[in-house]
Amino acid sequence: MLTFVIVSSTIRKDSKKTIKSVVGGQERFDVLARCLLNLDRWKERIEHDLNLIIYLSHPEEQISLNIPLKMLPSTLNGELDSVFGLINIFSKPELSNSKFINIEFGDLMEDLSKSATIYYLNPDGDPLTKLSEQLDKDTNMCFVLGSQHDLSEIQEQVLYKIKAHHVSLGEQDYLASHVITTICYQFLP
Ligand SMILES: C[S@@+](CC[C@H](N)C(=O)[O-])C[C@H]1O[C@@H](n2cnc3c(N)ncnc32)[C@H](O)[C@@H]1O
Repeated sequence: MLTFVIVSSTIRKDSKKTIKSVVGGQERFDVLARCLLNLDRWKERIEHDLNLIIYLSHPEEQISLNIPLKMLPSTLNGELDSVFGLINIFSKPELSNSKFINIEFGDLMEDLSKSATIYYLNPDGDPLTKLSEQLDKDTNMCFVLGSQHDLSEIQEQVLYKIKAHHVSLGEQDYLASHVITTICYQFLP
């Protein structure tokens, strides 16, 4: 299982979202829709099951949304399709076996670390190549990254506390969706 945890401080669970408002940049929901689209394109190409966890870190939220990719009803055809798909998941999560859970970031990461190796993605980490042997061995991995913003210092402290591996794809800052592609690429058979 490959899980991507993407932290967003701007997305709200119950705000009204439409294609038009999202394309206009509302809450930068588009960043997550692009990540969903990217992951959906990998789900038939690699052997691991894929899971997306969107963590809503806004002070009035502190909620995780778990989306198992294999339960999505159909393959997404493009960016608008993925925006529409993600809006539907937010309004009716049960239709795709997705689930909102009220949980603090620290507790979420503690829980995940009990069954998965945690990798924190950040340009300052160790080169990914240094971890290739470990990635070959692991069967349950969880990659944590920021969305349009990086993680906060407090969230970073949580990851250091649970001894997450700190992984870099290089000095360049990449978009969250590009980071997902680069990681999934490592798992091509
Ligand atoms: C668009 S970036 C976040 C904002 C960006 N740091 C900026 O200043 O605009 C999305 C996330 O992808 C991950 N990321 C970006 N570049 C990376 C790299 N070179 N290596 C590892 N992770 C990276 C980080 O977790 C980052 O928070």
